[in-house]
Amino acid sequence: MTEETGGAGVESNLSNSGQDYETAAPCNIVIFGATGDLTKRKLMPALMRMLHCGLIHRDSRILGVLRNRSEAEWHEMIRAGLHEYSPQLDMDEEKWREFLPHLKMVDGGLDDDTMYQRLADALETLGDKKNAMFYCAIPPEWYNRVAQGLFKAGLVSEEDGYRRLVIEKPFGSNLATASALNKELQAVFKENQIYRIDHYLGKESVQNLLVYRFANSIMEPLWNRNYIDHIQISVSETIGIEYRAKYYENSGALRDMIQSHLMQVMTLVAMEPPVEFTADAVRDEKMKVLRALRRFDPDQIAVHTVSAQYASGMVGGERVAAYVAEEDVSPDSSTETFAAMRFYIDNWRWQGVPFILWTGKRMKAKVSEVMIRFRKPPFNLFDSHASVPAANALVFRLQPEPGVVLRVNAKKPGLTTDNEEMVMRAMYASDTSEAADAYEILMHDVLTGDGTLFSRSDEIEESWSIVEPVLEAWKDRVFIERYRAGTWDVAAMDELTKDCVGGWHKPTLHE
Ligand SMILES: NC(=O)c1ccc[n+]([C@@H]2O[C@H](COP(=O)([O-])OP(=O)(O)OC[C@H]3O[C@@H](n4cnc5c(N)ncnc54)[C@H](OP(=O)(O)O)[C@@H]3O)[C@@H](O)[C@H]2O)c1
Repeated sequence: MTEETGGAGVESNLSNSGQDYETAAPCNIVIFGATGDLTKRKLMPALMRMLHCGLIHRDSRILGVLRNRSEAEWHEMIRAGLHEYSPQLDMDEEKWREFLPHLKMVDGGLDDDTMYQRLADALETLGDKKNAMFYCAIPPEWYNRVAQGLFKAGLVSEEDGYRRLVIEKPFGSNLATASALNKELQAVFKENQIYRIDHYLGKESVQNLLVYRFANSIMEPLWNRNYIDHIQISVSETIGIEYRAKYYENSGALRDMIQSHLMQVMTLVAMEPPVEFTADAVRDEKMKVLRALRRFDPDQIAVHTVSAQYASGMVGGERVAAYVAEEDVSPDSSTETFAAMRFYIDNWRWQGVPFILWTGKRMKAKVSEVMIRFRKPPFNLFDSHASVPAANALVFRLQPEPGVVLRVNAKKPGLTTDNEEMVMRAMYASDTSEAADAYEILMHDVLTGDGTLFSRSDEIEESWSIVEPVLEAWKDRVFIERYRAGTWDVAAMDELTKDCVGGWHKPTLHE
């Protein structure tokens, strides 16, 4: 499987399926940003569960880097985070007592060279190695400073154990900043020591795309331009921007969701079978998809994209404010809260098949899915009757209620040959534990040295290079289309999907 694994397989809560996972070798798990939102909401609950079910070796330690607080205050903060975000874990005293002795603190700011030295002194040889995972749960402007600090303190060399650097999203804000960050990190770490996290790829339902495609022989013959009309990949949310206004104003939906999560999902849907299921073999295939994406001339961008912003409206029975009325948002803001982009992959498999990626906040439903729309039946044998068979669709629901839905036509009971759509559902997991599970899966992969679900530097740069012209075209716009919060009222989507069988697929939880 992977390097640096040891210990017995354990039954994990990762999938509730009783599968065996490997316990990673003991590790110093270092968290920069140990007091931040990500740490409290995602990392600590995930680490606590991982320790409990044996995915983290019992000799491992969790070293939080923080400033201006005592270790006891930090512990209280973590506990309060559990209370707020993971109440079930908070109520589990046994798990907390088990977890607490593993939490150690290193004092200091990220710009303090002596902190890195203290960190070096604090790293322990666990088992026979001084393994370390450095998780950067910090604002992106600090990633390079941390890498340099670790280097100067002699914490990058792998002579006495592995050293792995985990970088959170966003990775750059355009091609230039992403390339610069890659160069800076690669000046001190080797590429295989860098884990660029995209928590979307940690979701069971996203990984299922690969298993569904490559563990079933019935899919491959259909998975191409001969049978597929188009593909829509979407993340539709009902929430607004919440507390992220400052970040979002500079980001917008295209950067926040399409350049990262949705393009990554597209590569999994479109890639060729890799020669083996290893990090580089999978990433080589994903990279080929990105390289085959058609580039649009600046005057074509408006034809292939949609941007819009939510106005006020009703969501879940409550009145919500327009984007421009949110705290910390400029009243003149033209930042998009809805973005869509139509891609074409210029290769033999996908020539002419549109891939429509779209995402929006304050939409009518919270659903994320991949919808494969097949071509219409070539000839309607039952044409003399009222119903025309609909084109088949295969829908991968990523969240909530992950699963697979197949829409096929079947005979209506009765004396005619009229048909109706039959919906075949295979739901395979509950959504409740999924968010934390993505971080469990990804951190376990880091600990076991498996980079398959992480983005390589070339993938990141290629995807930025594709969206960059769109960002440029949108940069100076003064007008942006508005849609009412809590609706699907983005009129331009009908135009974007007008040549697609079935048009814009507005997801519903009840199909
Ligand atoms: N929150 C999420 O759900 C989420 C999801 C995906 C990606 N991310 C990414 O994860 C990273 C962290 O996000 P977040 O939401 O956790 O941010 P946050 O709540 O603002 O936390 C930032 C953390 O960085 C620390 N920090 C900042 N400057 C520091 C300095 N000079 N010295 C020492 N510590 C410093 C803060 O410590 P102090 O408390 O001492 O200021 C705090 O612990 C960001 O890159 C974000 O984009 C977050």
